[in-house]
Amino acid sequence: MRAVVFDRFGGPEVLHLGEVPEPEAGPGRVRVRVEAVGLNAFDGKVRSGAMEAVFRTRLPAVPGLEVAGVVDQVGADVVGVAEGDRITGWTSRGAAELAVLKLWAPVPDGLDVVQAAALPVVGEAARRALRILDPKPGETLLVHGASGGIGGLVTQLAVAAGVTVIGTASAANQERVAAYGATATTYGAGLVDRVRALAPTVDAVLDTSGRGVLPDSIELRGGTDRVLTLTDPAAHGLGVEFNERSKPSAEELTELVDLVVRGEVSVPVAKVLPLAEAARGQGLVDDGRSGGKVVLVP
Ligand SMILES: NC(=O)c1ccc[n+]([C@@H]2O[C@H](COP(=O)([O-])OP(=O)(O)OC[C@H]3O[C@@H](n4cnc5c(N)ncnc54)[C@H](OP(=O)(O)O)[C@@H]3O)[C@@H](O)[C@H]2O)c1
Repeated sequence: MRAVVFDRFGGPEVLHLGEVPEPEAGPGRVRVRVEAVGLNAFDGKVRSGAMEAVFRTRLPAVPGLEVAGVVDQVGADVVGVAEGDRITGWTSRGAAELAVLKLWAPVPDGLDVVQAAALPVVGEAARRALRILDPKPGETLLVHGASGGIGGLVTQLAVAAGVTVIGTASAANQERVAAYGATATTYGAGLVDRVRALAPTVDAVLDTSGRGVLPDSIELRGGTDRVLTLTDPAAHGLGVEFNERSKPSAEELTELVDLVVRGEVSVPVAKVLPLAEAARGQGLVDDGRSGGKVVLVP
């Protein structure tokens, strides 16, 4: 089958189309004919070799953590899903014509398959960040990167729960953040003064940007308690919590799918590209210049 492949570690340019053996759905798994693949910064970190100190990636490798598609093979011990069902979920080699999923949720008729493929990774991270920070109704949560996949979902879920959210984004994305129900402000120099003018107290801070915002966050919060980053390793030297322990859950993904179908939350999709343009798409994601999710369609 056709897949996006890398044979060596490096920049996005090492990604190319290739032929790889078809995977089989083992016990507890299902195989889908892939209709859409969400790209993530994590794919870039694995491809660059940056994760080799944590776990080994055998080459040639196929990237892709999240896909949506139609089930074409059901492994042993799997119940509740059948050939022909459209699902979205987690995989490890998704940027291909076929992928094996380990956890999934049904994609109802009202949900576009591209939207569905964009949901698992940011959805899991957003819900985890909210569980850790636990902002209460009436509290103020500062979200760095509120226009992005994770930050945008956190913003929408927190606003819906009665939390006051101040969300940072580029000038181009202020309206998106305001539409999520947050007070939008730009990132960059003068951030502390801008946030102080908007809120006397900041009760919790989430950093999804990884762009050196932790010192300002500590200043605004008045300490490191309830300051969380999902992406900035500087956290370790500053005494800030850095969480990357993902806990995917089919139930949680099903709930998120339901919220998207009901129009209560959305994930911005910036680009839909063919598999052959994986290098271009992943380059945008790696640089943080995508302006929303990038999704590949085989
Ligand atoms: N720890 C975990 O478990 C975990 C899980 C999944 C992902 N992640 C990481 O979380 C990060 C965010 O993922 P994502 O999918 O949400 O990415 P994304 O959609 O690309 O969002 C990135 C956000 O950062 C903002 N940003 C860009 N430059 C900035 C700057 N200089 N200062 C402040 N904000 C800036 C962007 O705003 P504009 O677009 O408006 O410029 C955007 O809102 C990635 O690094 C990813 O690797 C971690």
